[in-house]
Amino acid sequence: MSRPKNDTFLRALLKEPTEYTPLWLMRQAGRYLPEYCETRKRAGNFLNLCKTPSLACEVTLQPLARYDLDAAILFSDILTVPDAMGLGLSFGEGDGPRFARTVRDEASLAALHFDLDSLRYVFDAVTSIRRALAGRVPLIGFAGSPWTLACYMVEGRGSDDYRQVKTLLYQRPDLMQRLLEQLADAVAAYLNAQLDAGAQALMLFDSWGGVLEHDAFLRFALPASRRVLAQLKRHDASGARVPQILFTKGGGLWLPDMLDSGADMLGLDWTMDLGRARALVQDRVALQGNLDPMVLFASPEAVAAEARRVLDRFGRPQREDGSWGGHVFNLGHGINQHTPIESVQALVETVHRHSRGLR
Ligand code: CP3
Repeated sequence: MSRPKNDTFLRALLKEPTEYTPLWLMRQAGRYLPEYCETRKRAGNFLNLCKTPSLACEVTLQPLARYDLDAAILFSDILTVPDAMGLGLSFGEGDGPRFARTVRDEASLAALHFDLDSLRYVFDAVTSIRRALAGRVPLIGFAGSPWTLACYMVEGRGSDDYRQVKTLLYQRPDLMQRLLEQLADAVAAYLNAQLDAGAQALMLFDSWGGVLEHDAFLRFALPASRRVLAQLKRHDASGARVPQILFTKGGGLWLPDMLDSGADMLGLDWTMDLGRARALVQDRVALQGNLDPMVLFASPEAVAAEARRVLDRFGRPQREDGSWGGHVFNLGHGINQHTPIESVQALVETVHRHSRGLR
């Protein structure tokens, strides 16, 4: 049951005592880093970068070489799963993802076939990254939630109004449920394969859960995420616990509903107050978040002040009775590509320093 040298992230996630609040950043390997842009250029394009394990490994490690982050996250994308279902993914220069085919009716749903073996490049990347990390910090594996993947598969691309996917949901709820169930089983198999390859925590990104109305979130998105989490292995081959994280953008109000999702930690965007969130979940799960990524465009002093505020809102992790709540510091969504790199340095230093004082 070997844990990494720096296991602060895993300890916070499992609500064990820690000396400071660990942090990592969503999209920590990305275009705000000049070295990422350089490697991406060598790869030719973003998908080649994802599909070449040695390059995916290289960019995963880049933010850790610069900053004292407490976890690494596999470099890949959530859309590899619909790609492996035959939808034909591409990323045009300067614009977002596109699928050659969409899923909007019986026939296109029936045509989906998930080929887990075609994702071997992801599992190979996980194995190389684990080896390269040499136990320095834990490695997070991830996937998109069924609902968030369905958004891209039905729309065929990113969307502002989710018109197609919501049309399907209201018009053919039966088809939507079948799509979500099929996706949940594929995503579970995919995450378990990442665990077998060496991932030490698993995160489900429900980036678009928050675009649903209350009842639809509870009827479609949440049960589909729960179906994924219920199928995940909880330990690796050595017997080490592999904790699970569920991030729902815009999901703050649903925290009480997500308590029994199966996740050990719930991720929050910046709209939720961490103190209020903690009161809602009563430390039954750990919380991850939730600095507004745009704070990083302010001065290093302002970044430090906002980071301290987030930590203070969560409060002292240790409770009156001696048990611990868990907080992993993160942004409320992915880091913006234009972020000044000095801001990240100020953030990392402040989170580590200030959180020691909260113990
Ligand atoms: O966090 C990390 O460092 C790991 C890597 C990671 C990427 N995408 C790399 C990426 C992770 C965890 C993701 C998840 C992802 N991908 C999500 C869920 C998280 C979220 O942001 O809500 C979503 C919705 C996607 C789909 C996706 N991928 C979109 C919409 C885009 C285009 C938007 C953009 O930022 O350009 C991507 C591309 C993408 N995925 C990039 C990176 C670093 C930028 C691509 C590039 O280098 O050109």
